[in-house]
Formats: sequence, C-alpha cells, structure tokens
Amino acid sequence: MTKTLGAVATALAAWMTAPAALADTIKVGLVGEFSGPFADYGKEMMAGIKAYQKIHGDTVGGHKIEIVTKDTTGPSPEIAKRVAQELIVQDKVQFLAGFGLTPNAMAVAPIATQSKTPMVVMNAATAAITTASPYIVRFSFTLPQMTVPMATWASKNGVKSVYTVASDYGPGIDAEETFIKAFKANGGTIVGSVRVPLKSPEFAPFVQRVKDAKPQAVFVFLPAGEQGIAFMKSFNERGLAQAGIKVIAPGDLTDDNVLDAMGDPILGVITTHNYSAAHDSPENKAFLKAFADANGTSMRPNFMAVAAYDGMAAIYETVRKLNGKIDGEKAMDVLKNFKTTSPRGAVAIDPATREIVETVYVRRVERRDGKLYNVEFDSFPNVKDPTKE
Ligand code: PHB
Repeated sequence: MTKTLGAVATALAAWMTAPAALADTIKVGLVGEFSGPFADYGKEMMAGIKAYQKIHGDTVGGHKIEIVTKDTTGPSPEIAKRVAQELIVQDKVQFLAGFGLTPNAMAVAPIATQSKTPMVVMNAATAAITTASPYIVRFSFTLPQMTVPMATWASKNGVKSVYTVASDYGPGIDAEETFIKAFKANGGTIVGSVRVPLKSPEFAPFVQRVKDAKPQAVFVFLPAGEQGIAFMKSFNERGLAQAGIKVIAPGDLTDDNVLDAMGDPILGVITTHNYSAAHDSPENKAFLKAFADANGTSMRPNFMAVAAYDGMAAIYETVRKLNGKIDGEKAMDVLKNFKTTSPRGAVAIDPATREIVETVYVRRVERRDGKLYNVEFDSFPNVKDPTKE
C-alpha cells in the first residue's frame, strides 16, 4: 500500500513537472532553405534566431519557445507547402516563420489563411507576398522599397544611362520594373534590360551584352549569396570596370555573408539596403556580439539574420501579451503593431499593410581592418513599400 502510494506520488510529481512544461511550450515552425544553393538563407535565419535567444533566453512569460525547422531544399513550392502542412497538423506550431525565397512564401500563404496561423516572413521580398494572406507580416523589406531610393540616388549623382540585369522571378521583376519607372521619371535612360534564370545562371553572355551597350551603370538584382559572386567574377573578367561601367544595386548583391569572397572588384559598389554589419549603433554591437557568441565567427550576419532576429522579438512580444494563448486574430493584432529599435535602426510594422517601415541606407563597399563592408554614407528614413502607398 505504502509502496503504491509512493509510486503514485512519484508519477504525479513527474506529471506535474514534465507535461505542465510541455503544455506551455510555444512552437515556431521555421520553413527555410537549409540545403542546396540557397542553404545560407536558412542558416542565416536560424543564426539570427539563436542570437536573439542568446540575449533573451528561450522562454518568455514562462513559456518555452521551441523552433521546429523544415528544409525546402531551395525554391520548391511543393515542398514548402507540404512541410508547412506538417508543421501545422503534426507539430501543432502556433507560428510559421522563415521563408527565404518568394515561391516558398507564396505557396504557404493559403495554408496560413486556412489555419489562421501567423506567418512571419524573414526574407522573401516580392511586394505582392503580404497581399496573399492577412496572416502574413513581413520583417525584411520589399524590392521596390529598396529600389526607389537607389534610382533617386543614382539620378541625383550624375547617372544618366543604365542597363538592368534582374533575376527572372518575383523580386527581380519587382526590382527591374521599379527601377526603370523611377529612373525614367527622374530623366534617366534605360539602354537595355535582361532577365537571368533563377536556377544556375551563366553570367558571361549577359555581362557581355551590358558591356556592348556601353551604359554608365548596370543596375543588378540577384538573390543574395553565390550568384553575386559569380556575377562580379564575369564583370571583372570581361573588363566592365575598365570600360567605365559602374555597378548599382539593392544590397542583396553585396550581402555581408559573401562580401569578402567577392574581393577587390566589389570595392566602391554602391547599394541601397536596410542592414549593414558595419551599422554603427549600440543595438548592432549587442547583436554582433550575441551572433558571434551563439554561432561562432566563421559566418557574418546579413540582412536575413537581422530580419529573423526582429521577427523573433515580435513573436516573443506576442507570446508575452497573449499569455501564451495564441489565437490567430489576436496574434496578428500584436504583430501588426510591433515596433522596435533593431540592429538596423528604428523599425515599425505598418498595420495597414503588414509591411515593415524602415530606413534605407546608401552604402559603398570599403575595406576596413582587412575586411570588406557596406559602409553607410546617406539614408532615406521611414521608407514604406511604395507599391502599397
Ligand atoms: C526572394 O526570393 O524573395 C528573395 C531572395 C533573395 C533576396 C531577396 C529576395 O536577396
């Protein structure tokens, strides 16, 4: 009898600790590119989340925050859809997050709507994404948001003729169309445009066309990472710099994570973007330290890591404000009104559009202490996505 009671007491004690903690766990399903040519996207997002948890811990208001990762393996709408469904049905996540590439975000939007699950976009940057579901909130940027300032800056600084090169899918088409419209409105001339495939582009023939057209500058949008390295290699080999052609671009080209691998040909390139590892602020210093403490120093944080860091801050605030009871509508109310001082500067979600309002910096690639950085020298504060104004 005593023995039985003892066993019951032990079982009860175990029940009171373990399942109670489990019931309070909030799960975030991170849908990202963790393998294939875009594997750095998932890694950067996860590393940004780890930096956030390094500073703020993995619990908020008594609720443990668990990240469940799923790999899309690249731009694969079918896989993105399947893993998002698994996260909701099997893992019972309360939030979806991540999404490096537009096709993956677009494929999951209807699932967020049907299941009323908040979907925190940490990179995918085609303007239309937030219109695909009322449960989407974006912590990154849109290509039009970064590109209008580039066109404005170029026009004011003597650039009169441009050739555009853009990746042939959502964000590239947004960047190309926005640049052409804004640049022409400022009196500029477009001497040619080319779209390159998203998968395995071979840049040499495109770069040659640019050279033959003799523009003052080439405007380039390529998805962050390896493609920028390949583009700059062709640009260098074909002697475009010697021919006097300048490169201007949204900051995806000079992604902090690959900048050093581009070497000297990237020096002096001017881009517009929301984050540089060289941004001088106490928040960025704390972020860089936490990022290195959590992930080691072989990887430099880029704009995807920062968007993931801020997206996590918003998820933590939502869990705290709702005491862990995550109802889709109520969660969206908190997420839509989120504001913070990010490592990139002050940011706020615009509740009308669920897009982030942020400073767009004009930066020049320079060498500092032996490393290449996007050094900010001008800025456009409080920029909204221009397609929704
Ligand atoms: C996207 O697929 O939306 C995307 C990918 C990489 C970028 C920007 C946008 O650098």
